[in-house]
Amino acid sequence: MNNNIIKVGTFFSGIGAPEKALELLKKEGYIKDYKLEFFSEIDKYAIRSYCAIHNINNDLNLGDIKSIRGNNLPYCDLWIGGFPCQDISAAGKMRGFDFKSATRSSLGWEMIRLLREIKEKPKYVIFENVSMITSNKFKDTLNLFKKDLEEIGYTLYDDILCAADYGIPQSRKRYFLVAILNDCKRFIFPKEMTNKQCLKNFLEKTVDEKYYLTDFSFIIDEKGNRIFSDIKNNNIKYKVNYSKYLNGGVCGKNLNDNFNQSSRLFSSMGMAPTLTASNTANNCKIVVEEE
Ligand SMILES: C[S@@+](CC[C@H](N)C(=O)[O-])C[C@H]1O[C@@H](n2cnc3c(N)ncnc32)[C@H](O)[C@@H]1O
Repeated sequence: MNNNIIKVGTFFSGIGAPEKALELLKKEGYIKDYKLEFFSEIDKYAIRSYCAIHNINNDLNLGDIKSIRGNNLPYCDLWIGGFPCQDISAAGKMRGFDFKSATRSSLGWEMIRLLREIKEKPKYVIFENVSMITSNKFKDTLNLFKKDLEEIGYTLYDDILCAADYGIPQSRKRYFLVAILNDCKRFIFPKEMTNKQCLKNFLEKTVDEKYYLTDFSFIIDEKGNRIFSDIKNNNIKYKVNYSKYLNGGVCGKNLNDNFNQSSRLFSSMGMAPTLTASNTANNCKIVVEEE
């Protein structure tokens, strides 16, 4: 690394969460500095958000990974790629990430193609995906993926980490694969933090009225549950068990939604559920008590 400035390139960049992590690592003094050499994203909304969040120009966006050629890439110390998970995730159809499958998740193999094409390979590559990638259904493909990386010269370390164990109030398990070129030290994943955060700790105390979508009134039923009705649309009702709310976790349901998982209400005294890519108005909600 030149003058301790980490040169970074990301693929499937989304809104650039790992880039945000690098910003925090710099702020907290763990790294001296980093420089974004390029990113690669095709979704126009993600691109706009990425540029706004990281204050950079779209010129650095290389676009569709399939049209990138390794020999045109600038040198980077670190590549990061959280490749699409729709075809691996339990929330999707699980069509797989085999490189012949032509699924969105098979795009992860494009990074291996680029690692073969590029002359000066990045010292570190981090892949990220849903934990389901280690399940029996996908483990053979994952092993082939890892074998290819080892053949290219990388030493691999992998683990499933949960965001809730690292100061984030969300139970979100993710698989991380860290590849280090010509590694001579042993990489150790960071230890879990002992103090867990709850969602409430992150919520702003005063929120402008314009952010409220609706007003609710509630009655208490014979079992002590609070039944909330949307004042504007009286057909929408939610049932909240107050003691479960205080304990955190799932504390109630949307009485108009028959689909069990999406009808759940989560307490802000606990963890947020894993948000899905297709989050819609009907999806699970978080109950926040006004102070
Ligand atoms: C799982 S998300 C990655 C999220 C990212 N780690 C973040 O911090 O926001 C996968 C991303 O890959 C992008 N993508 C899908 N196909 C792509 C392609 N052919 N080339 C580049 N990006 C692609 C999607 O638009 C999506 O934003």
